[in-house]
Amino acid sequence: MTTQRVTIEPSDAASSAAAMITWQATHRARVETALARFLTAPSSSAEAPRLWEAMRYATLSGGKRWRALLVYATAELCGADVAVADAPAAAVELLHAYSLVHDDLPCMDDDAVRRGQPACHIAFGEAMALLAGDALQAQAFEVLAQSRMPDPAAACALLAKAAGASGMVGGQARDLSGEATTMEALEAMHRKKTGALIEAAVMLGAACGASVGHATQTALTRYAAAIGLAFQVADDVLDVEGSTPDLGKTAGKDAAQNKATYVALLGLPSAKEKMRALCEEAQQALELFGTAAWPLKALAAQAVARSY
Ligand code: IPE
Ligand code: IPE
Ligand code: MG
Ligand code: MG
Ligand code: MG
Repeated sequence: MTTQRVTIEPSDAASSAAAMITWQATHRARVETALARFLTAPSSSAEAPRLWEAMRYATLSGGKRWRALLVYATAELCGADVAVADAPAAAVELLHAYSLVHDDLPCMDDDAVRRGQPACHIAFGEAMALLAGDALQAQAFEVLAQSRMPDPAAACALLAKAAGASGMVGGQARDLSGEATTMEALEAMHRKKTGALIEAAVMLGAACGASVGHATQTALTRYAAAIGLAFQVADDVLDVEGSTPDLGKTAGKDAAQNKATYVALLGLPSAKEKMRALCEEAQQALELFGTAAWPLKALAAQAVARSY
């Protein structure tokens, strides 16, 4: 894989949009290549070809790859070699794919459609989907542990914290408990179930380069926390305003399942206002980087202005 760095810093709106399209296409292609490589079944897996098929089905079949783009954008901002970011970008997407497979299971959200195709448990059966999710999670850590990052063990610890009981899984448990009935509890739940992995994506990107200073760390932490929450608020809004064909997943399911969401607690206009304010906060957090942070700024805007 060739080392590539986009150095354009667009100054007007038109060139900015064009540069972003190019930057995203280039980096999406990188993570797709990396994922396909990491999901090539070893020859010794002949006894479980269906498992690998399910893992590939769940991971290589679409998805915005927005978390991977966060890894790349932060890595480049922090001066890292983009090739070093391939492993963490793929690891975050593997972990995310696992979370979606399990989230769709009948015992969780019981969703039949994901990324515009039958959910993994519909296509492969519940038991195989459960195992595919388990294996994808393990694969994420194997990829990180074998990465060329300066400190692979620290990277594994960072992802483990974001994925586990104090992060994504803890948030999912709160979601299923139905206990998030106040704004405070809802925000805490969203920050864990979705925000934690998004924050990890940013921090793993930063960890691809030489260690960053306190001001950079603080700015990236603030940015990541804001977009992490904003992303799930936007997901709540899309569940109400989006259509199943556009979303590639079943629209309107949050209300049908009586889920605690920003729309349910605040109403649609205030939920939208909240996500815009979070996007603004994320953009402000990047001010100290000047124009160099344009990919991260564009990714923040995309988190809240998307149709799927
Ligand atoms: C959906 O994530 C699940 C949430 C955490 C909100 P995405 O909207 O990033 O899903 P893909 O990866 O593009 O399919
Ligand atoms: C999922 O939240 C968060 C995860 C950790 C997967 P949702 O349940 O709202 O995600 P979608 O709407 O099914 O993608
Ligand atoms: Mg869910
Ligand atoms: Mg769901
Ligand atoms: Mg949702």
